[in-house]
Amino acid sequence: MSTMAIIGAQWGDEGKGKIVDHLAAAADLVIRFQGGNNAGHTIVNDFGTFALHLLPAGVFHAGTINLLGPGTAVSPPALLAEMAEVGSATGISFESLKVAERAHVVMPYHVSLDAAEEQQRGDLVQGTTLRGIGPAYADKAARSGVRVADLLDANYLSEWIPSVLGPKNRLLAEGYGLDPIDPSALVDQTLEWGEALRPHVVDSLPLVSNALDANHTILLEGQLGVMRDLDWGHYPYVTSSSPSAAGACIGAGIPPQRLDTVLGIAKAFTSSVGEGPFPTELTDATGDRLRNVGAGEYGASTGRPRRCGWFDAVPVRTAAALSGIDALALTKMDALDEFETISVCEAYELDGRRVELAPDTHALVRARPIYRELPGWLATTAGVTEYDQLPPNAQLYVRTVEEMTGTPIALVGTGQHRTAVVTRDAVFGASR
Ligand code: GDP
Ligand code: IMO
Ligand code: MG
Repeated sequence: MSTMAIIGAQWGDEGKGKIVDHLAAAADLVIRFQGGNNAGHTIVNDFGTFALHLLPAGVFHAGTINLLGPGTAVSPPALLAEMAEVGSATGISFESLKVAERAHVVMPYHVSLDAAEEQQRGDLVQGTTLRGIGPAYADKAARSGVRVADLLDANYLSEWIPSVLGPKNRLLAEGYGLDPIDPSALVDQTLEWGEALRPHVVDSLPLVSNALDANHTILLEGQLGVMRDLDWGHYPYVTSSSPSAAGACIGAGIPPQRLDTVLGIAKAFTSSVGEGPFPTELTDATGDRLRNVGAGEYGASTGRPRRCGWFDAVPVRTAAALSGIDALALTKMDALDEFETISVCEAYELDGRRVELAPDTHALVRARPIYRELPGWLATTAGVTEYDQLPPNAQLYVRTVEEMTGTPIALVGTGQHRTAVVTRDAVFGASR
């Protein structure tokens, strides 16, 4: 496997967490490379069922180092609460959990501003997860952020926090009528977080560089998917970092030519949570059915019902074009077991033209899906692990998605549990 990036190829929630948990059995190092606790990665394994938000999905494997990479945005209270919760349920000690000192910190005012900004957007609301992610990355770019390394330097913090908090407090109070934050209380709070996180904080550069030199197996875990990429998604309904393979290199500290494999994750249908265009969205009974099959499509971070629709080849093709996807994992095949017919969007019709790659937002809202209808298989695929055990029409579905996206399918998901995966060795071996 050497170095493999796990990239969301749709609107997020493709099943990245499950696939990382599955593959991490063979990984020395798992690195979350962007995003923060806006993630909700549901993991089902022998320890139980977990919704991970910040913890990389390799934490269940003893002997695997898990790193929150420099490209992430870390909320210390959220991370500490998640460690306590998962730790008490599993006995995992988190000695091998590392937090990059260059990662940015989501501060309390980021969370307040995320909510206040959403509220003032009115009809143009973006549907963020309200976790402060946008404001934290905005401060990173504006060079007024707080980094994990800063939490360990009391002298620096006591100067830096009052300096960055001044403008934030004016915005909170005068812009949004909210209470300002007391600088010295915030310095104390951040120092406490620093002490709690200190055993985990590392300079990730030598850690990752040495792992590459030693040819260790490294998994790069993405958060969200291509349609919500800051540069390539349907702006402004995007997140504030890049879930692409290029984002993986920057956010983890991996040279592009050391990325051996890019594995795109795509669900066998499509879901999106939050605002923005979604050409195959079904607001009818079929959409409800897709939402409610199996464990159901409800946000693991926010509990919001996910918008659902048929599989759409356009975002997956777009993700492949941008991230150089070598192979796909097609998750939740079993969710389609009971559909008599299954539609698949092969391209969009846009102003009388056929469009195969995702156009920008203004055009995307006008795009109409061009569907191909496939026969369902009306048989259970739940828990199947051998490709030839999949019903013929399920294999036809896999081949059709491969043909439409121009990308081989290496893994097929057949259930929530980490073991419910068909591995097609011929494809997976070739892509490794
Ligand atoms: P992520 O954010 O990409 O990690 O995806 P989420 O965990 O938010 O959402 C994917 C949902 O699908 C979760 O409830 C997973 O447990 C579930 N899931 C993932 N793979 C499969 C699969 O192959 N079959 C079934 N039935 N559920 C799956
Ligand atoms: P995983 O890792 C699905 C969406 C939000 C909103 C937009 C911006 O589970 O795939 P943000 O809070 O990032 O500023 O919100 O992105 N969003 C997600 N949608 N899954 C996620 O994570 C998401 N993280 C953010 O709904 O539209
Ligand atoms: Mg999710």
